[in-house]
Amino acid sequence: MTNSSEIAGKAAFDHIRYAQLWEDADVLTTALGPCAGGTLVSICSAGDNALAMLTLDPAKVVVVDLSPAQIACLHLRIGAFRHLTHPEFLELMGARPSTQRSELLTKAIVDLTPELQQFWRDLDEEVNLYGAGGVGKFERYFRIFRTKLLPFVHSRRTLDDTFISRSQPERQVFLDTRFNTWRWKILLNVFFSRFVMGRMGRDKAFFDHVDGSPAQHVARRIHHAAVACDPADNPYLHWILKGTHGDALPMTWRAEYFETIKSRLDRLDIRPGSLEAFVSTGEKADGFNLSDIFEYMSPDVFAQVYESILEASAPNARLVYWNMMAPRRVPQHLQHRVQTLTDVENAQKSKDKAFFYSDFVVEEVIS
Ligand SMILES: C[S@@+](CC[C@H](N)C(=O)[O-])C[C@H]1O[C@@H](n2cnc3c(N)ncnc32)[C@H](O)[C@@H]1O
Repeated sequence: MTNSSEIAGKAAFDHIRYAQLWEDADVLTTALGPCAGGTLVSICSAGDNALAMLTLDPAKVVVVDLSPAQIACLHLRIGAFRHLTHPEFLELMGARPSTQRSELLTKAIVDLTPELQQFWRDLDEEVNLYGAGGVGKFERYFRIFRTKLLPFVHSRRTLDDTFISRSQPERQVFLDTRFNTWRWKILLNVFFSRFVMGRMGRDKAFFDHVDGSPAQHVARRIHHAAVACDPADNPYLHWILKGTHGDALPMTWRAEYFETIKSRLDRLDIRPGSLEAFVSTGEKADGFNLSDIFEYMSPDVFAQVYESILEASAPNARLVYWNMMAPRRVPQHLQHRVQTLTDVENAQKSKDKAFFYSDFVVEEVIS
């Protein structure tokens, strides 16, 4: 009896896919525009961006996710904000080296339900090694890339030098002469081949819309991260190449927002389940962080879900989302109901530090 209920409780948790958010919250919060006093809706993923949305001073942020493991990532962060100092938070998450992550984990989960405590205790060893922001499947791919492949391509010195702040022309020279070596090009072509990415769980159809090969797409995005933007300001690139953050941190993890977010945690309204479940409640929201969920839907399902989101939107609500590879924008038959904020999109795209997305969309509801 006890065993079966325990198993049922445990089986409810799948694996963490994203242990930290790989979408830039600076870009997201700017794109959402003024939201003070409103209701916002966010896909949870690892929870960082739902927390960042609290800095906009909304009345509440409704957080949804199909995956209980992803919701567990948000609960861990809530506990960490409540019970840790900011430097301890960074250690637990893996942004900074640490020898005390087990103790910090114990403190952070003290208020969680027994099931959530057990979920995190089972991950204690991995959290100890990589930080709580490093224990997802996505971060594991990056770790394999960094530890098993990258050492054959770039020396430690080249990787360190990548994060020295330079002028844009100097960044182009560094990319051309130090980073874009023939070994790097071979690595990109193999690791990001359709075959390998397909084997890593992405549907082959995913690449049908990509201009050129996935490796060419990645090379273009690396140019954005390494030349158009300054790598010294990029926490995502730093984690991918070095396994921790450097001086630059994602918005939610920065000291300047710690107390504000901590003081507004009770404005989170966590609803495990689908976005579609929220839109069917009849509530209206003033802004949506939709992550890149539309890419995982067929165009027909996307059109239906998009329309239902419009029904759940207050006038002037903004829909903010990314596309990694598949193109998704307001379906043609709904174009009269939204306005695309191209200027906002372009301004934020040029700054997006989570550089691997091919598109960033900001659409404002007219009616
Ligand atoms: C689409 S994934 C993308 C993750 C992302 N790129 C990141 O950096 O974290 C984000 C989350 O959306 C959730 N998700 C996907 N479709 C959903 C839906 N229709 N309703 C609620 N959550 C959904 C997944 O469970 C996952 O945790």
